[in-house]
Amino acid sequence: MDGSRRGQLEGRTVLVTGAAHGIGLAYSRGLAQEGARVVLADLDGEGAATAAKELTDDGFGAIDVAVDVADPDSVERCRGEVVRRVGEVDVLVNNAAVFATVPMSRAGYQDLSVDEWDRMLAVNLRGAWLMARAFVPAMQKRGYGKVINISSGTALKGSAGRIHYVTSKAGIIGFTKTLAREVGDDGVAVNCIAPGSTLSEAERDDDVMQRRTSAVSSRAFKRVQTPEDLVGSVVFLSSAASDFITGQTLVVDGGACMH
Ligand SMILES: NC(=O)c1ccc[n+]([C@@H]2O[C@H](COP(=O)([O-])OP(=O)(O)OC[C@H]3O[C@@H](n4cnc5c(N)ncnc54)[C@H](O)[C@@H]3O)[C@@H](O)[C@H]2O)c1
Repeated sequence: MDGSRRGQLEGRTVLVTGAAHGIGLAYSRGLAQEGARVVLADLDGEGAATAAKELTDDGFGAIDVAVDVADPDSVERCRGEVVRRVGEVDVLVNNAAVFATVPMSRAGYQDLSVDEWDRMLAVNLRGAWLMARAFVPAMQKRGYGKVINISSGTALKGSAGRIHYVTSKAGIIGFTKTLAREVGDDGVAVNCIAPGSTLSEAERDDDVMQRRTSAVSSRAFKRVQTPEDLVGSVVFLSSAASDFITGQTLVVDGGACMH
């Protein structure tokens, strides 16, 4: 599909954090294909620049910005740069996390370091709050906007090893519901997507493939989940079609966790 088709997100600017790799990269392309101008924000500024260039080369609207979502100063600089280059954003997708590109330990609760616990919560939870604090007030002023937070199916069912990650993703669900109640009067919708185990890694060694295929038997749809399986949900929650939906967690996992 080229950049000339009019899509359901025409005229919307969507900022995706963690957009340089994995699922965030797939969101960015899918959103751009629906007509959104996409801001690809990532700790890996070079990766974000490469990804944004690929999109603009294909005729889509995209810019890149380097940001550490855990750092309040970096987030403020990011906001300044985005507003200067493309104006206010209509949709914020809080997708950045310590996960694969910035890897996490999959150790038991007794074997994690305090530093790793703190960094996990700083990126995955504080990062979502800092980005919301920077970009949502302008949505409230305009009386319309959307925030999409990325949780994980692990938060709904628990997952042994990596309790810091699962705790951060459970926090995202409470964060979503509370922010939804705080900004609903101003027309801003806040929702959450909980992906199942997804083959998002560029490097697919035996360990990765074993982890992703082991999730298959628990699903109604028995196959490996890919980043593309998640794109429709983020497009829907970014679009006018979801305008009366807020505070919700949409599980996209092929029917593993039915809540
Ligand atoms: N892949 C899965 O199985 C799975 C399952 C459930 C939920 N998720 C969630 O989906 C999202 C994307 O996951 P993924 O599989 O693509 O992982 P990933 O590690 O490939 O992508 C995360 C992105 O966030 C960026 N990032 C890390 N720290 C950052 C920071 N401090 N500031 C800005 N950017 C930062 C990374 O550079 C990377 O581009 C994450 O929130 C993850 O927790 C993934």
